[in-house]
Amino acid sequence: MESEKLEFELTLYPQPVLRKVAEPVEVFDDELRRTVEAMFELMVRSNGVGLAAPQVGLRKRILVLNATGEEPDALVLINPRLVERSGPETTFEEGCLSFPGIFAEIRRPDTCVVEAQDVDGKSFRAAYEGFPSRIIQHEYDHLEGVLLVDRMSPADKVRHKAALQELVDRYKRNRPTAPARRR
Ligand code: CO
Repeated sequence: MESEKLEFELTLYPQPVLRKVAEPVEVFDDELRRTVEAMFELMVRSNGVGLAAPQVGLRKRILVLNATGEEPDALVLINPRLVERSGPETTFEEGCLSFPGIFAEIRRPDTCVVEAQDVDGKSFRAAYEGFPSRIIQHEYDHLEGVLLVDRMSPADKVRHKAALQELVDRYKRNRPTAPARRR
């Protein structure tokens, strides 16, 4: 129903939607607002600091994040573009809600400049550094179908081989099968 609250579940690696390039949001309506709200809810419930729409099964260019968990730091980026990445590269241990239990040291530039729209479609430009910048760059990757596993060092890939395989096995077990033929 139109006014009903949305509830999402996490999309885990290697679900195919995580590999798709997400599509721009063109309509800034009540459904978008409810989508954003439900993404925040799932992010908080999962103890995450950021979430991209493909992680709830939606091929849309929507990111939500909150680096501190404090209300004023909640940030919604619709159709974000990373117009600049600069500053010294830093290494940080990143996790991803689509890769439960897997963490890897990832190098990224410390600062980024983002152009995006808010939930009402209003455009803005802002610069971020440190942890928020790190989250934005990680989540932005999701919109391009780029995942934690792609950014890992070869050593980390080896270290997490069993855990990654376990996710693949779990996906194969839970994958919906073709409907049984009626007789
Ligand atoms: Co992620």
